[in-house]
Amino acid sequence: MSNIITLPGLIDCHVHFREPGLIHKGDMASESAAAVAGGVTTVCEMPNTIPATVSVEALADKVRRAAKIQRCDIRFFMGATEKQHLLALRDIWRGSSPVFQQLKKRCCGLKVYFDHSTGNQGADQETTIEAFRMCGELGVPLVAHCEDAALNMEAQSAVLRSGEPQLSAADVSLHSQMRPPESEIAAVKHAIALAKEYSTQFHVAHLSTAGGLQLVREAKKEGLPVTCEVAPHHLFLTIEDYATLGTLGKMNPPLRSKEDQAALWAGIADGTVDCIATDHAPHTLEEKQSGDPLKAPSGVPGVETMLPLLLTVAAGGWPHPTGKKVAGCKLQIADIVRLCFENPNRIFGLGKKKDEYQIEIDLEKEWIIEGKNLHSKCGWTPYEGWRVTGSIQEVNNP
Ligand code: DOR
Ligand code: ZN
Repeated sequence: MSNIITLPGLIDCHVHFREPGLIHKGDMASESAAAVAGGVTTVCEMPNTIPATVSVEALADKVRRAAKIQRCDIRFFMGATEKQHLLALRDIWRGSSPVFQQLKKRCCGLKVYFDHSTGNQGADQETTIEAFRMCGELGVPLVAHCEDAALNMEAQSAVLRSGEPQLSAADVSLHSQMRPPESEIAAVKHAIALAKEYSTQFHVAHLSTAGGLQLVREAKKEGLPVTCEVAPHHLFLTIEDYATLGTLGKMNPPLRSKEDQAALWAGIADGTVDCIATDHAPHTLEEKQSGDPLKAPSGVPGVETMLPLLLTVAAGGWPHPTGKKVAGCKLQIADIVRLCFENPNRIFGLGKKKDEYQIEIDLEKEWIIEGKNLHSKCGWTPYEGWRVTGSIQEVNNP
């Protein structure tokens, strides 16, 4: 049986393509191939490369590299770990020269990290406040990785002091205790207050907790310019999956409880969640699996598997091998288009047209996800062996 539909090529507003500087994990060519194979034809790429995208030159270099990529439109977030980095953003946004105007078209906003993750991009308080102020003034979308550095540090010390029995085995599930929900909730609260103070268009990256989501819900009710995204790994995996995934389930923010997972699906159902975005963050298997699990790098690939996972839910199924569907989780094809095209297109001013890139999908075809068949350079997936319904048949790019 087949049932073919056509959709606009999707937009993934949160990916790490690793070029330049980390190309043993992935590069623009390999990760774009993964995106296109997964029905994603536009991506917004994060600044934690080497060098980090914190200067005009670094952005110009990425834009030059991306011009060689045919099938995927790559846009870039600038980053800022120091106040002076924000001056580069201001030049790009306000500069009248054709060079700045061209760069502005390729730049989708500013990314600020409240705590360190891959690439140590954590910004201090002063830089964070100035980032909200300046983005408010310039009208630049600001995306924040919301984890409170001090609370993470406190939780980490508490775990280490407690001498948890798992510590001797360096159990990776401790990672979720070392970056607890309260840390995300406090950071989201702080960020919303700053967005309110400076009228900043603020977007929460990879929201993972019920409490954080509730704060976004309330901010929206208050009429604040606040939006959010959730990642497939927080929709389909929980702390219970550490047992099978080990360090392949390690990312920031970390896997959460079943209650948090259910809350994210409820946020999709009631419209609080604006986007689903992958936080595609390839690391090699060797990096993930050799050495102390608690020191393994955080991040999982996801750009090629997001659409099949979502299509499976839209078909009334549940792709997790346990088969235990989250109560109240539902999704229609129109929701996927809203969450993975219309909303990111609007929030980040990407100017994409629905008929610019088209993807053809066989809604009834079932297949098994296998890392060896995926296109990311990293060659693995946290969804190994999962059965999904819906396959991307063809991408028609101009
Ligand atoms: O898990 C993550 N991986 N979280 C981040 O914030 C960064 C990302 C990466 O670049 O590896
Ligand atoms: Zn990320």
